[in-house]
Amino acid sequence: MPIWCCAASAPTETHVVSEVVVIMAEPIRVVVTGAAGQIAYSLLYQIASGAVFGPQQPVFLHLLDIAPMMGVLEGVVMELADCALPLLAGVLPTANPEEAFKDVAAAFLVGAMPRKEGMERKDLLAANVRIFKEQGQALDKVARKDVKVLVVGNPANTNALICSKYAPSIPKENFTAMTRLDQNRAQSQLAAKIGVPVKDVKRVIIWGNHSSTQFPDASNAVAIVGGAQKSVSEIINDDAYLKGAFVTTVQKRGAAVIAARKMSSALSAAKAASDHMRDWFLGTEDRWVSMGVVSDGSYGTPRDVVYSFPVTVTNGKWKIVEGLTISDFARQMLDATGKELVEEKQEALDVCKD
Ligand SMILES: NC(=O)c1ccc[n+]([C@@H]2O[C@H](COP(=O)([O-])OP(=O)(O)OC[C@H]3O[C@@H](n4cnc5c(N)ncnc54)[C@H](O)[C@@H]3O)[C@@H](O)[C@H]2O)c1
Repeated sequence: MPIWCCAASAPTETHVVSEVVVIMAEPIRVVVTGAAGQIAYSLLYQIASGAVFGPQQPVFLHLLDIAPMMGVLEGVVMELADCALPLLAGVLPTANPEEAFKDVAAAFLVGAMPRKEGMERKDLLAANVRIFKEQGQALDKVARKDVKVLVVGNPANTNALICSKYAPSIPKENFTAMTRLDQNRAQSQLAAKIGVPVKDVKRVIIWGNHSSTQFPDASNAVAIVGGAQKSVSEIINDDAYLKGAFVTTVQKRGAAVIAARKMSSALSAAKAASDHMRDWFLGTEDRWVSMGVVSDGSYGTPRDVVYSFPVTVTNGKWKIVEGLTISDFARQMLDATGKELVEEKQEALDVCKD
């Protein structure tokens, strides 16, 4: 019985290699911005090795960074070649957004200006919003209309909103912001507290902004203990922890990594970006995952901001999980992070007018 699989080298041919019939699939074009940066350094390998789009989908990588980083990017291109990855159909390094976004099916928007010493949050937002306005315009002009865009660069939620606003020919559902790192952190904290493998903790939710106002919510979470699924609240039986130390540990985890590593989270951020895009492309079945998506006002959240909700994904389309009970505590948390997003949106729109 022949085995059917795909390879990248000759996209439309079919070869028979002894018992194995190899169908050559068309590669998809995938862009990573900030490609010379530290998150991209981990992320590119994950994409090119098949961890995101599957082991049978070849990829052609477009790598965007700014002109002064082209030398560094050349080194990254050399290393990708040296990995000798069977699914990597080609690499295009560039400093030109229109070249980078041409015909892409997936976009990881990682590149952003880092916060410099003495820089106000407002100044950082202004600098980054301008980048995402320009990239939205370029995506609108040259990307596939079904491109799936994941914004990682901060402030991720508001950058995703601005990017979508300046790409009106692409459905706004196709723009999302990353809160998966926060979800993974929350899941891992609960698994350690309970003493089970991380895969046995499910339905943890990140609501709102990828910032210190985010709400990591364990009230719907379940864990498998001794072969049976139980509510995390019942297992831990410590409301003060779940509303206190658990929430603040997740909110401040990024700062804790910076304090220890002297650099921001990169390995875990790249893994989270891979998780987010893989689930968006390949589906979640009944798993809940948190994604920043354009709010339709669900759960009393402000409309038209990119707000993180629990979603499930089927056939490449996300859907917000419905019917959850929101406690008084959760209400306050959801409202606080929503308020911050409305303020950020207003600041960003003011910048875009200039
Ligand atoms: N959403 C999340 O959970 C999350 C987690 C971690 C980091 N981040 C954010 O991800 C971003 C990248 O982090 P990093 O550690 O890789 O940073 P980094 O500084 O190592 O790399 C950023 C890269 O982006 C490039 N860049 C800057 N402006 C660009 C532009 N206009 N077009 C293309 N490239 C551009 C830089 O030249 C640099 O190579 C930061 O904004 C960081 O705050 C988000």
